[in-house]
This record gives sequence, structure tokens and C-alpha cells, in this order.
Amino acid sequence: MRHPSTAAIRLADYRPADFVIDSVELDFSLNPTKTKVVARLALRRNPAGEAGAPLVLDGDDLTLIGVRLDGRALGPQDYAATPDKLTLAAVPDAPFVLEIETQVDPSANTQLSGLYRSGSAYCTQCEAEGFRRITYFLDRPDVLSVYTTRIEAEKSDAPILLSNGNPVESGDIDGGTRHYAIWRDPFPKPSYLFALVGGDLGVVRDAFKTMSGRLVDLAIYVEHGKEPRAGYAMDALKRSMRWDEEKFGREYDLDVFNIVAVSDFNMGAMENKGLNIFNDKYVLASPETATDGDYAGIEGVIAHEYFHNWTGNRITCRDWFQLCLKEGLTVFRDQEFSADMRSRAVERISDVRGLRLAQFPEDAGPLAHPVRPDVYQEINNFYTATVYEKGAEIIRALRTLIGEDDFRRGMDLYFERFDGAAATVEDFLSCFAEASGRDLSHFALWYSQAGTPLVTTSEEYDAAAKTFTLTLRQETPPTPGQSEKRPVVIPIALALFSENGQKLDLASEDASARELARGLIELDRPERVIRFRDIPSRPVASLLRGFSAPVRLEPAPASEDLERLLAHDDDPFNRWQAAQSLALRAIFARVNGDGAASDARGLTDALRLLLAKAEGDPAFAAQALSLPSEIDLAREKGSDVDPDVLFAARQSLRAEIGRALGEALETIHARFADPGAYAPDAASAGRRALRNVALDLIAAGDADKGRALAQAQFETAGNMTDRLAALATLAHLGGAAREDAFARFYAQYAGDALVIDKWFSLQATIPEEATTRRVQELMTHPEFSMSNPNRVRALISAFANANLTRFHALDGSGYDLLTRVVLELDPKNPQLSARLLSSLRSWRTLEARRRELVETRLKHILAAENLSADLRDIATRALG
Ligand code: PHE
Ligand code: ZN
Repeated sequence: MRHPSTAAIRLADYRPADFVIDSVELDFSLNPTKTKVVARLALRRNPAGEAGAPLVLDGDDLTLIGVRLDGRALGPQDYAATPDKLTLAAVPDAPFVLEIETQVDPSANTQLSGLYRSGSAYCTQCEAEGFRRITYFLDRPDVLSVYTTRIEAEKSDAPILLSNGNPVESGDIDGGTRHYAIWRDPFPKPSYLFALVGGDLGVVRDAFKTMSGRLVDLAIYVEHGKEPRAGYAMDALKRSMRWDEEKFGREYDLDVFNIVAVSDFNMGAMENKGLNIFNDKYVLASPETATDGDYAGIEGVIAHEYFHNWTGNRITCRDWFQLCLKEGLTVFRDQEFSADMRSRAVERISDVRGLRLAQFPEDAGPLAHPVRPDVYQEINNFYTATVYEKGAEIIRALRTLIGEDDFRRGMDLYFERFDGAAATVEDFLSCFAEASGRDLSHFALWYSQAGTPLVTTSEEYDAAAKTFTLTLRQETPPTPGQSEKRPVVIPIALALFSENGQKLDLASEDASARELARGLIELDRPERVIRFRDIPSRPVASLLRGFSAPVRLEPAPASEDLERLLAHDDDPFNRWQAAQSLALRAIFARVNGDGAASDARGLTDALRLLLAKAEGDPAFAAQALSLPSEIDLAREKGSDVDPDVLFAARQSLRAEIGRALGEALETIHARFADPGAYAPDAASAGRRALRNVALDLIAAGDADKGRALAQAQFETAGNMTDRLAALATLAHLGGAAREDAFARFYAQYAGDALVIDKWFSLQATIPEEATTRRVQELMTHPEFSMSNPNRVRALISAFANANLTRFHALDGSGYDLLTRVVLELDPKNPQLSARLLSSLRSWRTLEARRRELVETRLKHILAAENLSADLRDIATRALG
């Protein structure tokens, strides 16, 4: 168990390690409860470290068996060992070899960090600080070593033995009942990238020929019998490898690339060098068991982990404060990959949706932190939407600012200059400064200043002078620990349209030629006023096109302008944004009880037009028809949030759209039925998405009609996407049809954990009073388990994050449920309990009664004994 420490870790305190570890030889004897680990470390003093310093190695919950220095066994007088630390006060100044033997119990490791078991397999998770749960080490990302790993096990227990790098040797021992394998990874790496797998697994194999003609053996290891479900992941892997060569000139560097899917995993997947370990949710798919969303998720995560080979592994992070250096950049790369594989516009829309759903609330609440934090208590709590998603947005904004060519040159420079190094954000930015010839020191503020900037605009048209004056102002609200904010560099892509939808030339004395030519205003100060000339009539401004920076923009244009943008804008993101803004306006008109009916007519008319042209881009139409979520509404409201009121207003608009567009929606639903065999490609997925959004709106407008259509679709669906969408619609309609469908769904997929997760989630998100009880009962279901993160997320995170009216119930029952689960989970898996508690990140925006309920629970949690450092950190900051 990690002991709660109160010492904050600060970026300002960084200093190089006192020792270098040139090579690591690891020797594992796998055993379910007593795994023996021998680590031979070739150490020497770091010239950049402190002369004469003692050797202090990190540990966590370790049992030390013995220590040898240059072959000589050390006695207790030579070192000080605790489960968390191994200190050698006096070590030679000349290079030396330290041999450490530890014993670990993988079966008792329920936190899924270090060496643990998933089913009958052995696997590891070492990021961020899991390696120290295997052996004593300088467990920090700037200590890079070459690893050789020998694994020995009972052949029956673990016929497959894998580690990083290339296979070197394998063979039988003990007359063939035991065996061993030796792996060597020639690329120096930090300990967090170490991995080992042992187990009885099925495998799918393929090969990839790299751009220089080398053949790489690819393998995906899965539970026996699941091999047919790994085909899409393999295909996505090969496409990722090709794409990174074509788009970034990056070639794979080992002889093998292995992926292992395990069912117990805290996160999505892990980029260990040459041996990616995955949550099986991001590997396994078949048309019968996976939705289009699952396929897209697999493609994105396979790509993400593969891309880490260069952005993360070949170039790693100097310290954990630089986490965004690998994560933000790799998310940016996987988003670009998905955009190239699918529809760029739809990818952009769904990435921004994701950002606004998770990162904006985080940035506006008590857990807000800079993309590069400067202090942490527990690094595990910084694998956040801010580091990942805002980190990716900053890189996108940088590319927008300096242009594609300079961006690509900067990336090339980065790969060239920092290959093999542990780098910082400054190192990264220096490459783009050099490539573009620009001073990026102001831009760098994006990394250290938290909070979402608010850009407010005002417009004025002077018909006599034919000028259009645009005023842009920025302000970033205070965040914890940062009360004063400075202006950041915000690239604002813009276009002006005439009344009939013509794009106007941009001419102004208030913007540079470069800005005007590119349609990109650089808002790098509190305010800019730009007067455009030769504007023949009042124009419609399309601002922040493509969501050119991670900011909030206010106010939304007038409704007639939004309708025009929805009809004419050639930026698909802003067309979608126009539909969202119209919907938001209609929903808040209901919340405030003003002019509801007339407000929605413009929207329904615009959507009707869109539906008529939906054939051209069904995926886009589906996105435009998807109303802002309850979380979007809460964020827009900003304070005094009553989830019940927002829910009711949203439902009422859905019903109105359903009624107004009933026939058009039915036509779409009928016409877009899957013609034949399921294909996971984006075009087919887009058709299904549109059809299923239509079904849901039909049901909102006419429950009986919706129920009949959904039941028929549930019966006849040839794939999980359509079947689950039908079940979701039935779930919201209620009644016997719902219970019947849930029962039949369960009967059909019982035992198929990833499918049963969908069944858990849908039940947890029914917006009815009985749901809290239902979730409690499901927690006793034989297929539910508190030890499996996917199960906990499917049931409990779904309830807390996607069922706002029930989670925020005024009797406190939703909060009580979360509190109980979090406290029960914490001793087992602190990373998971802490993440679960983060569902309360926006609690301060609630209205007073709910705020009080939450505050009591947070204090109750903090008062509990033996809280993990992870959970204590989140609860403390949440209370702030
Ligand atoms: N580095 C992983 C990724 O983003 C995420 C991860 C972090 C996995 C910590 C496990 C533990 O690709
Ligand atoms: Zn990552």
C-alpha cells in the first residue's frame, strides 16, 4: 500500500538523479503468490548529480530478500531497507553492479500497478510509479537504461512469456515442466516503460514491412477463443504504422511489436516499448458485440499507443510534470490519424465535444490545473483531460499559428534533436520557435496557466462607411492557486459572409497582412479592435473556425446569423456549432420561461433543411441533430445548477423537435437501415448514427411510435450498434417493453463481459427515481465485480457522470451511493477510487442545497481512516 504522504512534489525542485543506471538485467521466477525478482543494475555516479551522495532507491510495498554489490553479499549494516526505500549510504565512486532480490505477490496486487494478475495471466503496469512495486530502483523517467529480461515459469501456468524488445533466447528447464524466455530491448528507456506478460493466451499474427523494407512481426495476444475479435485491432495497427511513416516520417524500430489484451486494467492501454498492454475493451470487437463507437475507440487507442513509440518512448519525459509532452502530443497525433481514416469534420466535432464534456468542467472547478502542473501530491491523479485533451489542443493551436509546414519542420527537428532523451516542454517548443522563426515564449503560457480563457466579441456595422468593426477581448477566470491571469496567445480563425452566403475578402489596417491572408487573428493581448473595410452590407462573422483554440466564445451570434451559418458556412465545425448554439438558446429559453415556442421554430426549420440534405453527409447530420448534453447545459449555466430543471428543458426541446420533424425523421430511420453485412467504416457508421439519432428523437416526440420502431429494431438488428441504440431508446421510454428488452439482452450476452458492461451502463443511466436502487441491486449481480475497473466504470461512473438527475438527487441518495463505493474501493484500488470521486469536479456550480449535500460527503470521505494518497488528494482539492 502506498502511504499517504503530505510532501508535495514541485517542478521547481527538479534536479538530476545522483546516479546513472546504464543497464538493467532482470530475472523473474513467476509464481502466483511468491514471484522472485532479481535485478542487476549497472550503476555509476551521474556527473550532473551531487558528488558523494548516498544511493537512495524507490520502493513501494517491497519485500527485500538480499543485496549484493559487485558480487559481494551485503549485510544489514551496509544498507537501510523499508518497503518504500532502499538506501546505501556508502557506494563506490567507480561504476559498480548492484544486485537486488525482492519477492512480490502478484495475486494480492489489487491496485493493478506493478506486477499483478488479470485472470490467470501475469502482467505489469509501471506508469507512473509501478516499477518500484517490482524492485528497488531510481523510478523516475529521466533514468534511461537498456533492459534484458529473463522470465521463468511453469510451462502449464504461463506458456507465453513476453517482455520489451526483441526475443533473444528461450528453452525448457526442469525436464520441460518449466521454461524460460530472454528478451532484450536495445533502446534505453525509463522504468515506467518496462513490461512483462506471462500466461496462457491465444494469438493473432501478422507482419508489417516498414518504409525501409524491414519486416516486423506483429502479434496480438488475447484470451483463448477471442482471436476472431482481434482482427480490427490488427488492421488498425498496420494502418497506424503506415500513417506515422507517411505523415511524420517515423519508422518502427524493433523486430517485433506485441500487444496483449487483459481484462483488468486501470486505464485504456499502455505504450510499454514493443509490448503494449491493453484494456481488452480497446482490442476486442466483432459486429455482434461492439458498437461503431467501440470500433472508433479501438482504432484511436491502438494508434495512440503505437504513436507513443516515438512521442513518449524514443523521446520521453524528463519528469512527470512534463506528462503532456508525450500525452498531449500523442493525443494530437491519434486525433489526426482518426481524422485521416474517417471524416475530418466529424472527428473534430467529436474531439471538441469530448473536450467540453470533460476538460472544460475540470478547468472551471476545484481540480483545475495547468497542462503542465507545477506541483502534485499524487501523480496518478494528473492523467487528466487537461493534460491529455487540452494538451492536444495547445499543439493544434500551435500548428494553426505557425502553419503546417513550419509545424512539420519543428516536429522533424524535435525527433532529430531529442531522440533518446528525456525532454521538457521547453525543449519541444524550442524546435518550433526555430522552425518558424517565431518567439514562442508568450505562447508557452498555455502550459503553465490553468483555466479556460473566455473570449467575448462585439460587432458593429457602419453602413455609410462600409466598415465592420470586430472587438475581441479575452479574460481567464482565476483557478486554484492562480488568482491573477495574463492574456494568452489565442489564434482565432475567422471568415465574414455576406447575407447571401458569399465569403468576403478581409481588408483592414488593424491586422497584419499575414493575419488577413490566413483569416487568422492572433489575440495575444486583453483586447483587439479590428475594423474591416469595404464590407458592402452587414456581414455574418464565423469565428473560432474549426475551434482554432481551446477557449469559450461569447456571445453566440443572433439566431438569424446562426441559421445562416448553419446553412452556408464552409467550415463544418462552425456549421455544427451553429446548430448547437441554436439548441442551447432554445433550451435556455425554456429554462427561463421566455418565448419558448418561437425560439425553437428557427432551429427545427434549419434541422429540417439539414435532414433533407443528410444523404450527402449522414455522420455530420447526426452530430448536428445531437443536442447539447446535460453536462454542456450545466457548464453553460455556470452556477446555481439544478440538474432537474436542465433535464426537463432539454427533454422538452427533444420532444418538440421529434414532433416537428416526425415524418422526416421516420423517413430517415427507414431509409438508412443497414443494407447488408456490417462494415465498421466511417461512412457506414455515419448512416447508422443518423438513423439512431432519428429513432431517439422520434421516441421523444411520440412515445408509442418510438417504442414500436425501437422494438422492431431491437428484434431485427444485425449488429450491436443498432441493437444497443434500440435498447437505449427503450430504456428511456420505460415500461414492460424496457424490462423485457433488458432481460432478453442479458440472456443473449450473459458471460460476455464487455457486452454486459453496456447492459450495466444503460441501466445506470435511466433518468428515473428507481435507478439508484437498481444500481445498488446490480452491484450484487454475479457479473459485477468491484475488482474489475471496467465493471465499476460501466455501472458506477456511468451513473455518476451520465445520469445527472439521479446522481444529483435532492435526497442525497446518489451522492451516498458514490461515497460508499469510493470508500469500499479505496483500499483495493486507489487509482480507481480517486478517479471515481473526480465525478464531483463541478460540485461548486450546483445550487445551494446540493452543494451542501456534496460538501458533507466530501468531508465524510476525508474523515475516513487509512485513505489512500490518491483519494485524499482528490477529496482535499475538491473541497479546496
Ligand atoms: N500512458 C498511457 C497512455 O495514455 C496511459 C496510462 C497511464 C496507462 C498510467 C496506465 C497507467 O497511453
Ligand atoms: Zn498516452
